[in-house]
Amino acid sequence: MTNSGIIYAVNGPIIRTRGDSGFTLHEMVYVGPDRLVGEVIGLETGSTTIEVYEETGGLRPGMSVDGSGAPVSVTLAPGILHQIFDGIERPLTEIGKKSGIFISRGISVPSLDESKRWDTHILVKDGEEIQGGAVIAQVPETPAILHKVMLSPRLSGRVLKPVCDGSYTIKDRLFTLLQDDGTELPITMTQQWPIRTPRPVVRRFSASEPLITGQRILDTVFPIAKGGTAAIPGGFGTGKTMTQHQIAKWANADIIIYIGCGERGNEMTQVLEEFSELTDPRSGNSLLDRTVLIANTSNMPVAAREASLYSGLTLAEYYRDMGYDVAIMADSTSRWAEALRELSGRLEEMPAEEGFPPYLASRLSAFYERAGAMRNLNGSNGSVSIIGAVSPQGGDFSEPVTQNTRRFVRCFWGLDKNLAYARHFPAIQWMGSYSEYLSDLAAWYSANVDKRFMDYRNQMVRILTKEASLMEIVKLIGSDVLPDDQRLVLEIARVIRLGFLQQNAFHPEDTCVPLKKQFLMMDIILYLYRRSSELIHMGMPMSVLKKQGIYDRIIAIKYDVPNAHPELFQDYRKEIDSFYDAVVEQNA
Ligand SMILES: Nc1ncnc2c1ncn2[C@@H]1O[C@H](COP(=O)(O)OP(=O)(O)OP(=O)(O)O)[C@@H](O)[C@H]1O
Ligand SMILES: [Mg+2]
Repeated sequence: MTNSGIIYAVNGPIIRTRGDSGFTLHEMVYVGPDRLVGEVIGLETGSTTIEVYEETGGLRPGMSVDGSGAPVSVTLAPGILHQIFDGIERPLTEIGKKSGIFISRGISVPSLDESKRWDTHILVKDGEEIQGGAVIAQVPETPAILHKVMLSPRLSGRVLKPVCDGSYTIKDRLFTLLQDDGTELPITMTQQWPIRTPRPVVRRFSASEPLITGQRILDTVFPIAKGGTAAIPGGFGTGKTMTQHQIAKWANADIIIYIGCGERGNEMTQVLEEFSELTDPRSGNSLLDRTVLIANTSNMPVAAREASLYSGLTLAEYYRDMGYDVAIMADSTSRWAEALRELSGRLEEMPAEEGFPPYLASRLSAFYERAGAMRNLNGSNGSVSIIGAVSPQGGDFSEPVTQNTRRFVRCFWGLDKNLAYARHFPAIQWMGSYSEYLSDLAAWYSANVDKRFMDYRNQMVRILTKEASLMEIVKLIGSDVLPDDQRLVLEIARVIRLGFLQQNAFHPEDTCVPLKKQFLMMDIILYLYRRSSELIHMGMPMSVLKKQGIYDRIIAIKYDVPNAHPELFQDYRKEIDSFYDAVVEQNA
């Protein structure tokens, strides 16, 4: 017997019911005759406040609301990958088949395919005692990913009468669990998990491995760790979505959860199309085989947008529990914060900065807090990395969402509209951005790429910092007054900016660059700097050095040296040596 209430007020996505309904906080409810999905967000004696995840047009006082007896949850089982869901895990492709392009309201389609049979290998034995999180079976979910079916974290007990290996649906009984209190529970592949509750783990690790993205300014200059957090703030058209697409395509995560939150619908279609064409460089399979899309685009209801981040997080944590490295892209967290603001306004809460509710900061913190590298209940290690785009109005980073996000993330990849106008992409500012993972990751780079990696990276950053301060002088009095060693700094900084930081997402070689090549590029640029410095110290003027065209040759390395041919860097070294000899000879 479920509880129910009667509507007395409707205000956009917020409705109120009167009387003691018996609902619990965060309970999922069905609203009105169309049974729209909603969530209880406030309880007072005699009245309940509910947020409805669908258009509420047509609802009126007097209609009834039925409880479901459970909090808003996602369904977890094989069949999640390769899917596109809305903010509360409804499968958009299935719904599309049923109701055309637009989601008709109250439509009830199960989140995952319940009739599909999965080739299942059972891992538990009759009589075995198991704990929450234990891997009970495995299923090849896609060619790329082995799905580890787990016992819900909240259960434990003894396995009775397990089935044999075979083909089963997510609703079939795999065994019966004899719980400690003596009750028996049929166990299937399916778990439900409330989206607002983090899935439990044994403990958190400190970051030690980078999430490698193939993007030079990220991997080398501002790296993010597996299990880390990063924000990409940027004004209109500066490259937030593009940067997230690049990471989603190339990052060495096992699973990608892409949450399109309040952004354009065609961008999600683009992800679908591009990803289905691309193959994962590691496994050779379609990128969609390791990807889940959550679409809550600008034309979809705001309340579901608010929920979409939590649904995405819960799916991510579920795959982390299997021992995978998961990366979440959220585009854009500003639209999510705006949904929060709109709902808060309707609830007549006291607004804080710029109309955002006072709990904006705690919500953002709770979101990023769910990232991390973890030891799971079943003893495996996995990670959830979160990369959130932020879209401040007019690119002004002092607004509340950017400022609060900055407090909770450890990488800040600030996009600059001047760089974007100049078509310097990725338009990530090298002066205003930062990564707090450098010291955590230094040992990894040293052991896995080269001992000199971080030293080179720091030398490059020092050159860029020098350039920035020299540019102040140049702006005031021109570059002619600078001594040649400083003009050389400007020239090398130009090589770093154009040859290293700038990276073309549309170029087949440049779109994703292995760490080895990133290192060799730094090596060659710094070698050029060293040899040029020697010439300057011998009294050669910068104007003579520039005539050789060597600086532009090095800038073009990103296109001219294929990723698979690092040995070609030797030729460039020789070229720099002959450049040195030529300058010396001419001026002898
Ligand atoms: N790494 C890149 N390489 C090449 N071009 C890029 C790159 N990043 C961005 N661009 C260019 O910038 C354009 C705008 O990028 P994008 O759509 O990602 O911006 P955005 O910040 O998401 O914009 P909006 O505020 O509208 O969401 C792209 O269409 C592309 O032409
Ligand atoms: Mg965008």
